[in-house]
Amino acid sequence: MLPSHLKFYTKHGISPVRYLAASVQEHFERRASLYRSLGLVPLVFRGARCLEVAVGSGQNSLYISSLAPESLTLVEPNPTGVREIRELYDKTEVPHTPPVLVESTLQEYSPSHKFDIVICENWLGKAPGERMLLRKLAGFLEHHGMMVITTVPPAGFLPNMVRRALAVKYCDPRLSFDKRTETLVEMFQPHLSTITSMTRSATDWVQDNMINPAYFDLCITIPDVLRDLDGEVTALSTNPSFACDWRWFKSLHGDARGFNRHMVHEYEAALHNFMDYQLLFSGPDRQMNRKLEMSCVEFVESVRAYERAAVEDGDKNSALETAITNLEMIVRQLGDCPGQIRSGLEAGLGLLRADSDECGTVGAPSPFSRLFGRETVYLSMIRS
Ligand SMILES: C[S@@+](CC[C@H](N)C(=O)[O-])C[C@H]1O[C@@H](n2cnc3c(N)ncnc32)[C@H](O)[C@@H]1O
Repeated sequence: MLPSHLKFYTKHGISPVRYLAASVQEHFERRASLYRSLGLVPLVFRGARCLEVAVGSGQNSLYISSLAPESLTLVEPNPTGVREIRELYDKTEVPHTPPVLVESTLQEYSPSHKFDIVICENWLGKAPGERMLLRKLAGFLEHHGMMVITTVPPAGFLPNMVRRALAVKYCDPRLSFDKRTETLVEMFQPHLSTITSMTRSATDWVQDNMINPAYFDLCITIPDVLRDLDGEVTALSTNPSFACDWRWFKSLHGDARGFNRHMVHEYEAALHNFMDYQLLFSGPDRQMNRKLEMSCVEFVESVRAYERAAVEDGDKNSALETAITNLEMIVRQLGDCPGQIRSGLEAGLGLLRADSDECGTVGAPSPFSRLFGRETVYLSMIRS
């Protein structure tokens, strides 16, 4: 049976996805900025029938409910998440359309009508069952309805995959959940504190990214999604926004529209820029970028195998060697990338190769501490 977010969350009685914001207004401004870049300006929500699946804490849904949709349906199966959603709506003073909360998995959910807007963030990934659920979600859309999901480019996943390997090397995965949480927070808090716009606590981040077994499968790309849903949806926009379309609109009819083809082309040209959230650089050509992406996917799988070997008493040393070899290959493929990325990854490699397993060395300042990818990439689509 595949590891799932739900199994992990319910086993530990957690929902590690709470947003920390100074005020509701700040949170709403962030959400408005996100949706704006995805083509969902506030008027799109007004009077619309909206669905959000895998709602988590409910804080994101509150913004949508404040925009006067005709209805808002929330599907969330985790009892801890459900409790937090109820508390949020009981307490809020923001005028809103009251949501209908469905305490169910997406697998069990079957709506009685279609929706104008369907949203599902930070859940569905590349496990085969989840890709079927992506198609199920697209099937809920009205004609011309809009859907928002999240994708994870392997190049953006790379820095945190190095951290995941460090989490195995420096903190035995067979320790208790509480002990691992405590040690991993100590290891990675100094890295997280380099990020100025962080909205999650170190504890939630560690549990969801460094311990959650389902994390590896989040790595589904924009081309994967558009291939799965081809013929059903057309790509509209992304956040971060990387695609540029200089084509004259008068040429965009019939097969020439090719919005999905165009988005994939732009993604392949830009994917080196997902590696470091603070930098933009002109990178290798699309073919080299595709090779880089394949190497990053291999690295993810080697880290997964390393963790499995450590949990199941397998040959973890040889699994770690394979992960190190894959990461060395990526560093070689980087060519003329900015020095911060190269030195960051080399520092990560140094930590993976070290003889010591003293966890304090991971948190000590190094060129790797600041290296985080553009890991979550939102994609909006229109039902065609
Ligand atoms: C990483 S959290 C994301 C929460 C929220 N969307 C966000 O971005 O903050 C994943 C969410 O998926 C939910 N989930 C897991 N399995 C699910 C299922 N089978 N059906 C619906 N939701 C599910 C979890 O309970 C959790 O709330």
